[in-house]
Amino acid sequence: MRRVGIIGTGSYLPEKVLSNFDLEKTLDTSDEWISTRTGVRERRVANDAETASDLAKVACERALEAADMYPEEIDLIVMATITPDTHCPAGANWLEAKLEAVNAVSFDVTAACTGFIFALSVAEQYIKTGIYQNALVVATEVMTRTLDWTDRETCILWGDGAGAAVIKEVDADRGILSTHLHSDGAGGDTLLLPGGGSKTTPISHESVDKKLHTLNMIGANQSFRVAVRRFVESCEEALYYNDVTIDDIKVIIPHQANLRILQGMAKQLNVSMDKVYVNIEKYGNISSATVPIALDEAARDGTIQEGDLVLLTAFGGGLTWGSSLIKW
Ligand code: UT7
Repeated sequence: MRRVGIIGTGSYLPEKVLSNFDLEKTLDTSDEWISTRTGVRERRVANDAETASDLAKVACERALEAADMYPEEIDLIVMATITPDTHCPAGANWLEAKLEAVNAVSFDVTAACTGFIFALSVAEQYIKTGIYQNALVVATEVMTRTLDWTDRETCILWGDGAGAAVIKEVDADRGILSTHLHSDGAGGDTLLLPGGGSKTTPISHESVDKKLHTLNMIGANQSFRVAVRRFVESCEEALYYNDVTIDDIKVIIPHQANLRILQGMAKQLNVSMDKVYVNIEKYGNISSATVPIALDEAARDGTIQEGDLVLLTAFGGGLTWGSSLIKW
């Protein structure tokens, strides 16, 4: 089987910044509560005209530039999102047209906050088996359009953005060493976006009154503990599978769910937070997009150097969780 690796990354965050202090003006909350309970200080908000594929387009262009490639060289686009422009066509189809990636086939993968790792794994299989050669894996979310802005326990967490990676066959001494995916549909109710599917369509006055079109985090406290456990398990699985220890890892790039979840994970893995890449203070939780955005930042700010072992891990709605170990 061919070895597949990331040869370029890119990200895009909308310009508009919404700080905790801004939220204090409309909600019964405080910067102090939000930053100590979650680590979030501000988040980005897409402007009214920006859709998930618009954010993805810029992230993909930056990833292509980093990889020194053109859109027409891409033959596969896999987009992770729970906030596509439309459900039909898929979000990836809109992106394909905007990028003018005329030789690509494109489709979406839905795995909430673990979406990027699922999408990476899907694209990797096609390249490993020789069916496609050059893939764009992109995660993009406009989470702020799914929120009930009166629900202080939920709306303070989320933001908008996109991250992308170009992947292709690489030399056998680097690249994606392994990917581990998990899901538990029985836990689906804890992180739920009920609206937009056959359960709530057609939209009615009743469904709007019940706010079924907004993100529901009824089980957020329970999922907090589960998240720590799943982050730890998926990291340990990748280490065990590759016969390496946590000391061999240069940086863990986790889904930015909540700073306290990441601190809990680091404690259980017995590593310093210095080894955990954190940018939640700037962007909040952007669901599937947090991992590739953090990966792009780490690649560009020099945190990751050639030959480093990088461990991606995520947990989210579905429930879904997973990890990927990459030799950079
Ligand atoms: O990305 C997918 C993975 N993400 C998750 O699994 C989410 C994990 N869960 C979390 O991140 C946290 O559970 C939350 C951030 C959602 C909530 O934090 P918490 O520490 O679990 O707070 P809590 O819900 O237990 O609330 C504690 C108190 C409550 O008041 P009482 O009942 O103790 O009087 C809340 O009403 O804090 C209150 N509270 C707030 N106060 C000020 C809740 N939200 C706020 C707020 N501002 N925004």
